[in-house]
Amino acid sequence: MKLAIIGLGVMGRNLALNFRDAGHQCVVWDPWPEARNWQADGIEVCDTLEALVNNLPVPSIVLLMVKSGLPVFELTEQLCELLENGDIIIDGGNSNYMETETNVRLSRKRGIHFAGLGVSGGAEGARNGPSMMLGCAGEMRIVLEPLLASVAARYNGKPCLAWFGDGGAGHFVKTVHNGIEYAIMQAIAESWQLLELSGLTTSAAGRQLDIWSNGVLAGYLMEISAEVLQTSEAASGRLLIDLVDDAAGQKGTGGWCVSEAMNLGVPVPSITAAVTMRQISSHEVLRVLSGDGAETTQEVTVQAVYDGLVATVVLTLAQGAHLLTVASQENDWKIQLTEAARVWQEGSILRMALLEKFSDPAALFDIACEHGEGLRQSVIAAAAASLPVPVMAASLAYLDACGAGQLSTALVQLQRDRFGAHGLKNQETGEMFHGPWHGADS
Ligand code: 6PG
Repeated sequence: MKLAIIGLGVMGRNLALNFRDAGHQCVVWDPWPEARNWQADGIEVCDTLEALVNNLPVPSIVLLMVKSGLPVFELTEQLCELLENGDIIIDGGNSNYMETETNVRLSRKRGIHFAGLGVSGGAEGARNGPSMMLGCAGEMRIVLEPLLASVAARYNGKPCLAWFGDGGAGHFVKTVHNGIEYAIMQAIAESWQLLELSGLTTSAAGRQLDIWSNGVLAGYLMEISAEVLQTSEAASGRLLIDLVDDAAGQKGTGGWCVSEAMNLGVPVPSITAAVTMRQISSHEVLRVLSGDGAETTQEVTVQAVYDGLVATVVLTLAQGAHLLTVASQENDWKIQLTEAARVWQEGSILRMALLEKFSDPAALFDIACEHGEGLRQSVIAAAAASLPVPVMAASLAYLDACGAGQLSTALVQLQRDRFGAHGLKNQETGEMFHGPWHGADS
């Protein structure tokens, strides 16, 4: 097939090469003139957007690999002027699913199809086979799926491409993917510091992550964490972890995941804690407000840290799965958890053995319970040493709250009724009533 790619950053270029190698004809363009100096065998770089569009067969397919937000919106506007009825725009960036829904509506009014495509795997994935999460009108699948499948990663012989429903469904799944990504990255980082608390050196902690990445915790994020923890600066021989500024960046997808969860009433405390930790890490004012924390000693074993990490990972997966399930129902999407897990199993940053359990919340909670004691010991030891482990702590509170008898929220209900007459429910009879503070007619 012939397609156009707009955006010649590393993702766009690598995808163009990937499409070319899969036997497609690729024409490319970038709004930045300098980026158009790029050359690659068999790929035509156009000088103008008009030339790009004129170079395409009917129906034309244009894949946007540009920054999300305004650039996508503006290019969609321009393309709608140039494209013909029935042509297709695919947004392959990390776009907010609500913006994708808007672009779908605006394009549809002009007779143009708009698809939102979540792409995971970074530069390497784009070149060799990414994981792809597609959202588009059902009738476009017949055109788009064979094209995208030809460049996607493969798992168990099938392409890591899945359709999750109309409009912003694909970008929503990618947003949840990223929320999970944030939490697991932070949980591994917390494990590193806990391993040091248990007495290991940094390099030994890295080797420990390596060992764990050959078992239940096997996965890409474990592998790269083990690698980077053991990597030194060539010149000084010092470990990079001791040199690097700890202010963690973020482009927003983790925060979107949390906002959407809030809107849908789905608790995602592990993901929320991970986003918060990145915010604190890069907040200059907050970072100097607090004094030295008290430090007492509470031993933690390597085994407890391992258990803590396993429990945190499965609880994070459970929260992501919950969010996808509710979002799919609310938006009338077709998100199947087995499909999300399948397309994340290769090519994506989240590829890991535990995804096998993603569609089974009971199994995820069972694993969390089996490893819950180690999680508790890890959190206790960290708290005693004033070591912040927000994702593990939030995961433990989530596990405890989900399994508790009466929660502290019983008092919250009384408070609400006392000041706001919000009403109380008798847990034995189910009857509604008010506390005595409101009198008979309140
Ligand atoms: C992926 C990643 C990727 C991610 C960026 C930036 O699946 O390939 O999720 O798309 O969005 O690495 O993430 P930050 O928010 O950490 O900058």
